[in-house]
Amino acid sequence: MNKRFLVLIGAVVMCISTVHNSFAQGGMWIPMLLQNNQKDMQSKGCKLSAKEIYDVNNASIKDAVMLFGTGCTGEFVSKNGLVFTNHHCGYYQIVRHSTVDHDYLTNGFAAKSTDEELPCPGLTVTLLQYMKDVTDEVLKGVSSSMSEQQRKAVTDENIKAIIEKATQGTNLTAQIKPLYYGNQYMMYVNKVYKDVRLVAAPPSNIGKFGGDTDNWMWPRHTGDFSVFRVYADQNNEPAEYSKDNKPYEPKKFLKISLKDKQEGDFTFVMGYPGTTRQFLTSYAVEDIQNLEDPARIKLRTEILDVYKAAQEQSPAQRLRYASDVASIANGWKKWQGEVKGLKFLNAIEKKQQQEEGNALMKEFKRLYDDGRRYKMEQLYISEAVLASDFMKQARRLLSLIDISRDDSVSDIVLKTEADNLLNYLQKYYNNDFRQHRAVDSTVFLRTMVIFYNDFAKDNYTFLNNKVSSAKSVSDYFAQIYAKSILTNPAKIEKMLKNYKRKDYKKLIDDPAIELLSPVWGHYINQTAGKLKENNAKTDSLYRIHVAKILSDYNAKGNKDVSMNDGIFPDANLTLRVTYGNIAPFKPKDGVEYRHYTTIAGIMEKEDPNVYDYVVEQKLKDIYYNGDTSPYGDRVAFIATNHTTGGNSGSPVMDAEGNLIGLNFDRNWEGTMSDVLYDKDLCRNISLDIRYCLLIIDKYLDAKNIIDELEIIK
Ligand code: ARG
Ligand code: GLU
Repeated sequence: MNKRFLVLIGAVVMCISTVHNSFAQGGMWIPMLLQNNQKDMQSKGCKLSAKEIYDVNNASIKDAVMLFGTGCTGEFVSKNGLVFTNHHCGYYQIVRHSTVDHDYLTNGFAAKSTDEELPCPGLTVTLLQYMKDVTDEVLKGVSSSMSEQQRKAVTDENIKAIIEKATQGTNLTAQIKPLYYGNQYMMYVNKVYKDVRLVAAPPSNIGKFGGDTDNWMWPRHTGDFSVFRVYADQNNEPAEYSKDNKPYEPKKFLKISLKDKQEGDFTFVMGYPGTTRQFLTSYAVEDIQNLEDPARIKLRTEILDVYKAAQEQSPAQRLRYASDVASIANGWKKWQGEVKGLKFLNAIEKKQQQEEGNALMKEFKRLYDDGRRYKMEQLYISEAVLASDFMKQARRLLSLIDISRDDSVSDIVLKTEADNLLNYLQKYYNNDFRQHRAVDSTVFLRTMVIFYNDFAKDNYTFLNNKVSSAKSVSDYFAQIYAKSILTNPAKIEKMLKNYKRKDYKKLIDDPAIELLSPVWGHYINQTAGKLKENNAKTDSLYRIHVAKILSDYNAKGNKDVSMNDGIFPDANLTLRVTYGNIAPFKPKDGVEYRHYTTIAGIMEKEDPNVYDYVVEQKLKDIYYNGDTSPYGDRVAFIATNHTTGGNSGSPVMDAEGNLIGLNFDRNWEGTMSDVLYDKDLCRNISLDIRYCLLIIDKYLDAKNIIDELEIIK
């Protein structure tokens, strides 16, 4: 009998004997505890020790990896603080430096010397100094007889004190985050660098090639990278932007490998995955699959329809809605993949099987039944009610009314708030009010009709009466839009310019306010509190549930992942390591996807008439003239690394820790991995670093950047 088979039998026996969440592999491991994975990693091909990846006392790979901004990952690739991340992670900075004369978004950009690098105020990179298990200190004084509020009061107090002790008199920042729903607490001590400059970006036709059409899909041909540089003061420490700052010298930067990669090759990813929910019970998965995701998808389908139709009108309109569409479509498409994937894996049944005989499940069911209405109300408020600019403005107008009625708010504060609102509205009215009005009113109408039919009708009596006396549901909302002061710029501007406290009386009868006030009021005064309470109760039940899973796991007595199926805490935007192998996959019967793509695929997808598939002449010249040496023609590849949102820009490394790619997406069939990972279906999508260098070298002609890198051929 071979060893693999024995291991398999062992695993089956364990699943029967304990109530255990089986992760079907995958894993976002805590760097500090990577010792437990070392054997497993090495058996899969890794040549590094755990200490070479994470070490507090010596330079290790962790010193090359950063939280880029607030939700992406980046990595150092030179001794002078040069950073690689994704194009979509640098997108905002690229857009903000673009003008009609210097359209970096469309044409790309490369600084030929450090003088030409562009400051990006507000952008930070966060470098982890060390992490520490602080569970005992955080839970000091907590007893099992305490209520949740008492527990929280004690832990909050402890957390404050621990952070203060760790950072006092230093330039460090620290954060303590719960793992396993508060069964464990980890402190992360950081340095935050604030002088970060844009160095290079490919043109959109490369950096966003395939756009939202190809997003979340394999095969992929997107050159999703951008280049930045971190600056520091004379002592290499964090400093506000200054001309006198020097390029930051990282403790460690990644070398880049141009070597060929084969199916089966070991790869690992280090980065900042945002959120996963591996421990959810079947009730939660049922709600996601059957209620929440479908409701979100339905609403966003309507909104996207409206925006996309507007984008077809003109290139200016296309740009006007580009970033809204990108972010709305990103979630919209992911949720569709997630629902499909959960169904395909029979996730609900799988969870139910694991839950059999678990005494906590009755209480979970009760909590989910109780909380469902509140959760859906919150979903409809954010995805429908506040979808239009019109209702967002009404929200702000409502808060001006609220403070006008509050005598404890001074006239000065009132005046400031009125000015702020006026400012906000004027920007909106000045830009393209006429054109946008048609778009926004349609978004308002369509989302409110769905909101009414799918939710409000059964839950809010106050709306029913009004709607039933109108000609139709949509006419009811159309009248509100037509008659509100918010769609009459001259009138509202006049009122806000000279705003007096008593003016609120003229505003409370405004149709937009008459609609929003009870809806928003219901959410804030009745629902929000109950939802918070329900969430807190659910979380503490998960704490008990997961404590049992943890203690079953610990009872095995060996944390070596090569011996036992490992266990890892959900992603929470802290530094993690995931590893796997380069691998193709079979999305469905009769179809198999190869593990890499090439430039030939870009030329195949080319369509000069479709915005997402325009190919620059210069790229064609490079390709058809055979001018791709020494980088070759690979564009992207897939592997079994378990990643999620936040891992964008993460370094994908080979067995020796050399950079071979930039993580930027997952395959559509695998997006349910946030809830349930499956090694056969889930793949991370990475830009092949050779395509990135090809574009920097031959397209952007930035030899200065290439010269800074340490390249292994
Ligand atoms: N799906 C990727 C992620 O979740 C890329 C998103 C940006 N690209 C886009 N076409 N919207 O962030
Ligand atoms: N594009 C995602 C990001 O911005 C990564 C894709 C994923 O969710 O895995 O982090």
